[in-house]
Amino acid sequence: MRHLAVLGAQWGDEGKGKIIDLVAPNYDVVVRAQGGNNAGHTVVVDGKRHAFHLLPSAMLYPELTCVLGNGLVINPDVLKDEICRLKEHCGDNHAKLLISDRAHVITKRHVSADLKKDQERLGTTGRGIGPAYADKAYRKGARVAECYKYNKKVWKYLKEYVTDTSSYLYRAIKNNKKILFEGAQAALLDIDHGTYPYVTSSNCTVGGLFTGSGIFTRDLDVIGVVKAYTTRVGMNTGPMPTYHEDDKDGIRMRDQGNEYGTTTGRARRCGWLDLVIVRQAIRLNSMTSIALTKLDVLSGFKQVKICISYGEKYEDGFPTNADVEIEPQYITLSGWGDIRHCRQYEELPLEARKYVETVEELTGVPIDYIGCGPERDQIVIRK
Ligand code: IMP
Repeated sequence: MRHLAVLGAQWGDEGKGKIIDLVAPNYDVVVRAQGGNNAGHTVVVDGKRHAFHLLPSAMLYPELTCVLGNGLVINPDVLKDEICRLKEHCGDNHAKLLISDRAHVITKRHVSADLKKDQERLGTTGRGIGPAYADKAYRKGARVAECYKYNKKVWKYLKEYVTDTSSYLYRAIKNNKKILFEGAQAALLDIDHGTYPYVTSSNCTVGGLFTGSGIFTRDLDVIGVVKAYTTRVGMNTGPMPTYHEDDKDGIRMRDQGNEYGTTTGRARRCGWLDLVIVRQAIRLNSMTSIALTKLDVLSGFKQVKICISYGEKYEDGFPTNADVEIEPQYITLSGWGDIRHCRQYEELPLEARKYVETVEELTGVPIDYIGCGPERDQIVIRK
């Protein structure tokens, strides 16, 4: 069995947490390699929602080891709170946690700088992510290695988890342990390949996993998580060609899909599935399969649309200049009814299968997972 990466193929919030939660029992170690508490992964077990920001989504599995790699920026107070909440919920019956001593630390100064300057201009989450990465690039950041020696209460608490995680992962792979990389944010939010400057400050594409964890493997499958429609956080921050203001279909998707941020609570823009950006994400990450999430949210629409092109000029993906005007071109397919009960591919209505197969055809990548509802078991596995 190969190692696996689960990465976002749109603008984030694709439902990566649910896919991680589903596949995690097949692996030994789960690694986060970039971002910080700007992420928000939700896992629903027995009707109870578990929201994680910094901790990997697989923390609910006691037999696993979860790693926060060197590429993260860590707010120690937030991390301590998340560990405490986890312990309140399941005592010590959770995954073993390791924190890289090379990860950078988000301070109160970073958070207030983010709130003042960047939230309005870029729609950041206001968690200090950009300022912390900027200090890292300036070579004046504080790393966990320097901080955890201080006797401060929060570091006393976190100290037992801190280690050289790159060496740990190297040994784990040598000992045939299987690694699952948990992506945060997504391809179109990547600082190099996303819709700059309306992006996050880390590499959310596949290369970021290796620099952010300190290991490399050729032995890797990559699942791209694609929501069955498109969403983007914030109203005016960054382009989203399939969003149309006051469009009743988009509003209906937001209501049916409960499209409000796990981290900030902000309403997300919603629009039809944009395959131009999905194809770009597939190219950037060599994605080997797709998990198509929240297909149930499109239930009840008479017709559904898919954006297949931005015109000849932009065949290879989003233009370098994110502010350019784009005219999305759509195809229209027939809609379908309730699918929340479906567990086998054949149980899906013909129209839903047509939608799935059209996405496969237009991307050239197989869809191995289809999300049919928020619960852990509301999923069709085709492999
Ligand atoms: P930052 O990561 O807080 O600096 O925010 C930069 C941009 O990335 C903003 O538009 C955020 O809304 C977006 N962003 C960051 N993390 C996420 C995420 O997990 N999901 C969706 N958007 C995100």
